[in-house]
Amino acid sequence: MFFHRRRRWEIATSETTPEALFFDRRSFLRQSAAAGTLMATGLTGLTSFIGSTTPGHAEADPAGLYPARPNPAFTLDRAVTPERINAHYNNFYEFGMSKSIAEAAEALRTTPWTVKVDGLVEAPQTFAFEDLERAFPLEERLYRHRCVEGWSMAIPWTGFPLRALLSRVQPLSAARYVRMETFLDSKIAPGQRQFWYPWPYVEGLTIAEAANDLAFLVTGAYGKPLLKAFGAPLRLAVPWKYGFKSIKSITRISFVAERPKSFWENLQASEYGFWANVNPAVPHPRWSQATEEVLGTGERRPTLLYNGYGEEVASLYTGLEKEILFR
Ligand code: MTE
Repeated sequence: MFFHRRRRWEIATSETTPEALFFDRRSFLRQSAAAGTLMATGLTGLTSFIGSTTPGHAEADPAGLYPARPNPAFTLDRAVTPERINAHYNNFYEFGMSKSIAEAAEALRTTPWTVKVDGLVEAPQTFAFEDLERAFPLEERLYRHRCVEGWSMAIPWTGFPLRALLSRVQPLSAARYVRMETFLDSKIAPGQRQFWYPWPYVEGLTIAEAANDLAFLVTGAYGKPLLKAFGAPLRLAVPWKYGFKSIKSITRISFVAERPKSFWENLQASEYGFWANVNPAVPHPRWSQATEEVLGTGERRPTLLYNGYGEEVASLYTGLEKEILFR
């Protein structure tokens, strides 16, 4: 007999919403007006997003790795955000400040692609992306995705736990953080010609966070290799943190002793910190984080502490209460 224990991040079936595309434009506009810097760029995106149907071109899948086996431990009792919505509502500042970067992101060349793993590890290694994708068993997980701007989605990611990579390269005891970096190529990424941004995009986790089972290196979504707009060919998904921690198009993963300073922290440390754990009770300095707009449904629902993943991650933060954990 199959017994399904409802996990903490799952939402009751009675609360699920139909997948039919419906978008409440007025509430989006209200939210945009409130949200400031990041959000200010959302409006242009919305127009083309509403009329869009094509999700862009997935990467090739010569090894037939997709769709990967769904991991039943990571199901959500809520509608998955339709791909056509997700694929036209993205933050990828390398390709522009609007949400409509899908077309511009097609300029990204993802073959060949290498990921350098270096720093304080026993076995530093540069992986060709195809080798990395085949080096670890791929699985599909349904994750929530909560942006600091106040919107959320539910996404079927394909990939493997970051901790599998840690086991492969063996961090040294001096390594306290993982620093991740995105490509740097202003010839194809117009955003990177905007010199006032601290390119390349950088993000970081503690080793303990990186070793948590939820930290997921993503190679695909919606049963296919990643679209470029989603951060092909390799991105991170850390669903208990605000979306900006989930760095896209990763080229380098370094194990370091010092806490890395991320892209957004470099820009505005008072608003975007290192930890950035989701907490509805801690407002962004310019807007509330109490609720979120569930994209594609017109629905606004209460935001959950650690985005609903507290059982899995809250213990990572015991003893760190003096840190600014929720920004
Ligand atoms: N990674 C890079 N390299 N560049 C970015 O601009 N934006 C971040 C994050 N990763 C970003 C990035 C932000 S703010 C969010 S909310 C998510 O990616 C958006 O992911 P999505 O477009 O797949 O929803």
